[in-house]
Formats: sequence, structure tokens, C-alpha cells
Amino acid sequence: MALVERRTGTLHVEAVSLTDIAEQFGTPCYVYSRKALTEAYNAYCEALAKHNALICYAVKANSNLAVLSLFARLGAGFDIVSGGELARVLAAGGEAKKVVFSGVGKSHGEIVNALRLSIKCFNIESAAELDRINAVAGDLGLKAPISFRVNPNVDPKTHPYISTGLKTSKFGIAYEEALPLYRRAAALPHIHITGIDCHIGSQLLDPAPATEAAQKVLALVDTLAGEGIELEHIDLGGGMGIHYRDEAVPSVTEYLAPILRVLHGRKEQLLVEPGRSLVGNAGLLLTRVEILKHGSAHDFAIVDAAMNDLMRPALYDAWHDIVAVSERNELPRSCEVVGPVCESGDFLGHERMLAVHEGDLLAVMSAGAYGMAMSSNYNSRPRAAEVMVDGAQAHLVRKREEITQLFAGESTLP
Ligand code: LLP
Repeated sequence: MALVERRTGTLHVEAVSLTDIAEQFGTPCYVYSRKALTEAYNAYCEALAKHNALICYAVKANSNLAVLSLFARLGAGFDIVSGGELARVLAAGGEAKKVVFSGVGKSHGEIVNALRLSIKCFNIESAAELDRINAVAGDLGLKAPISFRVNPNVDPKTHPYISTGLKTSKFGIAYEEALPLYRRAAALPHIHITGIDCHIGSQLLDPAPATEAAQKVLALVDTLAGEGIELEHIDLGGGMGIHYRDEAVPSVTEYLAPILRVLHGRKEQLLVEPGRSLVGNAGLLLTRVEILKHGSAHDFAIVDAAMNDLMRPALYDAWHDIVAVSERNELPRSCEVVGPVCESGDFLGHERMLAVHEGDLLAVMSAGAYGMAMSSNYNSRPRAAEVMVDGAQAHLVRKREEITQLFAGESTLP
């Protein structure tokens, strides 16, 4: 579904107008749609209906408790990368037994906590981590359920900052090292091998690289079985892309079809770790134009959201559509949509054709993933509010930060 719809000239999310949301909750403000989130999740359920599968939502994409609790109620598992994310999942009503723990640098404390809570699996990313987890589990008198994250060395052909499956990457274990490591793990007393994992990158629109990765993973699974190491699950990570501009985005069913063909007839449980494709198109960033400035080279629309609220344009040169909330009967003009932060890289969009006045509202689209989750307090800017629309209701799911919260943990010298 389209997240926004124009009714009598004003953008709405479900039945609520963005003008009303701005009035009630202020700007900048992230706005999510319960319906869009649910539909995105259900698209995965439908695509995977014939498989024994668990959808482990990648919490890093958007870790708001309302988003997590919605997915938990729909039956999701979770892919986490820190103790903080695990705490959020539990606070939102998620189950530890459906949690997989990824990440290259899990700390001793994070491992202890996750073991005590009996998570589903540790996705191990190095030999040193295997030894660490075995030792910690030994201290606790437990066995740690593990999989290795294997690097299939396929090029996902996406932005280099978000491609992770190449052998030059810091993530995962080289394909050639996987077999010897599984053998070693099988001999360790406090390790219980349960699966295999891979994740090659993000914002992938062509299923071919993920299909190739799946083939390589399966070859390894079969070799392991030949040695008596039987796996219970195969985790193919996340990565499916979404609509930002004019990409040809396949449906989840279309994207997964060639991958599921490769997996046809397998007995292992299938895990996937989608992040962006569950939340990205289900959220937007609502911002107000503060100042219109006529520069010598460009016109600027200076808005109240900035790179600290949505870092993707500054960090990846990412393109997000920017739409006026209320239409004006004027010719649009090209403008640079920028924030108030003191950095030249602080922009949300270049050369956007907009008809806007000071005080007008803009919606920055496709901002549900890696938006709020990557926000910061740079320039001592309080983080934005978050609102979840559900039909005709708008729920505040995160209060706007107060300025005093920003330095509440700090102290002056005695
Ligand atoms: N699993 C693992 C192990 C991951 O590292 C990631 C994302 C995911 C799953 C979820 O991938 P997704 O389905 O969202 O593509 N901040 C960047 C994206 C970083 C992705 C990091 N890993 C951005 O804004 O584009």
C-alpha cells in the first residue's frame, strides 16, 4: 500500500492528516502506519507460508517498542546486535527463544545475559568469538546454541557501506574457514551447533546474489551433514530493498521465489532477518519549513529536521522523496532542502521541485528504516517524537526528547 494518500489537498497516513499530527505532536516527527507495517509483515508470511520459517525482524532498522510489539504480536522473532536491542525486544513482549544474536563484537556481559535468557541462537562471526562463547557458557554450566555467519563472497551490487558478504568485509567467516570451524565447534563441550547464517548486504533489488549465496550455504550444509553435523536451521539474513525513488522493487514473493526454489524440499527451518523491507516504506519524517533563503546559487528550504534526525542522505547520499503536505496553487521551484545543523553535509534533498512557504509541512518519505534508529543528538538537538497511526487514531509512541534530558547524565567538575 502507499503510505500516504492526498485527501482534499492534504496528505494523510491512514485516516489521519499530517497537518493534525504536526499540530498535536510538533515537528520534526516520525510517523508510522500500523496498517503498512502489518501488510509488510504479512507479505513475508504469505511468501513463506509453505515453509517452516521464522521471520526474525532486524531490530536495528527501527527499534521503537511499538514497532517491536506489533511484530511480536504477529508472531515475529528478532535479529538483534546488542544487549540494548535484546532488552527492547523483551520490553516489547518479544520472546527470547525467537531471538538470534548477530554482530562481530558481542561483549562478555551481552553473552552472559543472552545465555541466561535462553535465546534461540548466537550467529558467530569469528573463531575468537566461538572460544569466548564456549568459555562463558561453561562458566554458567550451559550449552550455547550457535550458528556461523558465513561469507559466501558474492557481490550484492549495492552501496559499499551496506554490502557485507564480500571477503573484504569485517563480517562473517570466510567460506573456506567454515568447515574447519564447524568441526572445531562440534568438539567443544559448551557449544550446541544449531544452524548456519549469512547476510550479504542491504537494499537488494535483484534476488540473484541472495540466490547464489543460498546455493553456497546449502552446499556447506550438505557437506556438514556428510560429516555428521546436522543443522536445524538455515538463516539467510535480510537485505530486500524498498522503494525510495524509481527502483523496480519486486514483491516479497517475487524476491524470495528463486531463493525458495533452491531450498525446496529441505527439512531445516528457514530463518530470514528482514529490516528495511518491513519498516522502510511504512514510515515518514514530518518536518516544517522554518526559513526560505534565496542563496546566490540555490534557493534553500531550511527545515526543522536535520542530519541528526535522518542521517541517510548525509551518510550514503541516499535519496528520499520529499513531498509538500498541503498543495499550493503555485509553480514549484528547485530548492535545497537542508536542516539547521552546522555542517555542509546537512541536507535532506538536493534540487527538489517544491512550492512551499515558511511554515509549510514536508513529508520525507521511506524513512521508517534506519531513520530514527540512526538519529543522534548532534548540535544538542533533542530527538524527534514518533507517532504510530492506527486507523483514525494517532498514538505518540515516543515523546520528543527534552533538552534537559540531553545532559542529565553529565556533571560539571567539582
Ligand atoms: N541481518 C544482519 C546480520 C544485518 O547486518 C542487517 C543489516 C540485516 C539483517 C537487515 O538488513 P535489511 O533487511 O534491513 O537490509 N544503515 C543502512 C543499512 C545498514 C544495514 C545493516 N545490516 C541504511 O540506512 O541503508
